[in-house]
Amino acid sequence: MTTGYDVQALRAREYPWEARGDAIHLDHASIGVIPQRSRDALAAYNDKRAEMHAMRAEDFFARLDHARALIAQLIGASAEEIALTTSTSWGINLAAYALPVGPGDVVLGSDGEFPGNVFPWMAAAKARGFTYERVPLIGRTVDQATILHRIATDPRVKGVALSWVAFWSGERIDIDAIGTACRARGIWFAVDAIQGLGPLTLDCARIPADIVSFGAQKWLCSPWGAAFAYVRRGLITQLEPPAAGWLAQPSTADFGHLLDYDPTWRADAQRFEVGSLPIQDFVGMNATLELFLELGPSNIERHVAALVERLISGLSARPDLDLYTPRDPARRAGIVAVRTPGVAADSQRLRAANIVHAVREGAIRLAPHFHNTADDIDRALALLV
Ligand SMILES: Cc1ncc(COP(=O)(O)O)c(C=O)c1O
Repeated sequence: MTTGYDVQALRAREYPWEARGDAIHLDHASIGVIPQRSRDALAAYNDKRAEMHAMRAEDFFARLDHARALIAQLIGASAEEIALTTSTSWGINLAAYALPVGPGDVVLGSDGEFPGNVFPWMAAAKARGFTYERVPLIGRTVDQATILHRIATDPRVKGVALSWVAFWSGERIDIDAIGTACRARGIWFAVDAIQGLGPLTLDCARIPADIVSFGAQKWLCSPWGAAFAYVRRGLITQLEPPAAGWLAQPSTADFGHLLDYDPTWRADAQRFEVGSLPIQDFVGMNATLELFLELGPSNIERHVAALVERLISGLSARPDLDLYTPRDPARRAGIVAVRTPGVAADSQRLRAANIVHAVREGAIRLAPHFHNTADDIDRALALLV
């Protein structure tokens, strides 16, 4: 497998437990595993945090500035377009409550969405008076043709909210085509990208999306609590933040003088951040993002694509397996979901072999990443095929 980096050396350095053969982690669609350098960074930071006198000025907001800069580099944005959050759901709520939609307007979603990209839209629709509508799937597939048709022809449609990659089937939608169609009609486009970024590369400067939400706990192999949202530059100052903290206003930059209460928002996406952030989680994330940038996001994309291809072609040897994931590489990312005739027993066998995976919507879900090897895939295949 040509990947652009030495996966065995990487594994020995960053995932020694996997190099030792303790377990094989194929479950990044649930929770990613944290590389050694990020574990070390987290431990060192938490040690300092426990003894506050050891902390220096650069251990506070500079760590968060560094996070925004790394994220911006990773997704082709500028740091001003990044709001740090604590979950993907936060970014989705931001879109649902801040985008200018109201009574008479329709926001289109799809069936098959993760609940985290449904409940905020339902709640915001109730609160703000717009209609949130989910387009039915065709079989297991997002009906992109109907969504595109509605965007082009239904004047009530003012927003579209979709996941880039489906958590249960691994289907990847064409966010470029949908975003372009939205842009042509002045329709807002909000994307939940947590299941895409990492196994896939993303260039926000090129994709016509308005708000894109991410969590770093899965495919960005970072601590829970590290998450972020991209808000397109031209949109930032048009949006009223739906929740207010005390750090999103320039008037509080000087902690020596906090009692003026000038509520003017910052002009960058930090206006959407709410209060103190879990700096230690971003310290861990920063170390992982540095690793990703060192390895090269497109090398990682190629590596994951090769593992997924190997998995899918291996599974194809058994005609009685029901593959949920599209076979077309352009329509999938890092998730392979397969329904076997005995899901519970197969899952148990994988678990007994310490192959970490998930069962979702009746299928075994395998989600390999940049540190996995062809041998990991073959071991899983040996138990399934
Ligand atoms: C598509 C999608 N969105 C969001 C999430 C998680 O959201 P949060 O980071 O708010 O927990 C998941 C997790 O399974 C997911 O698959």
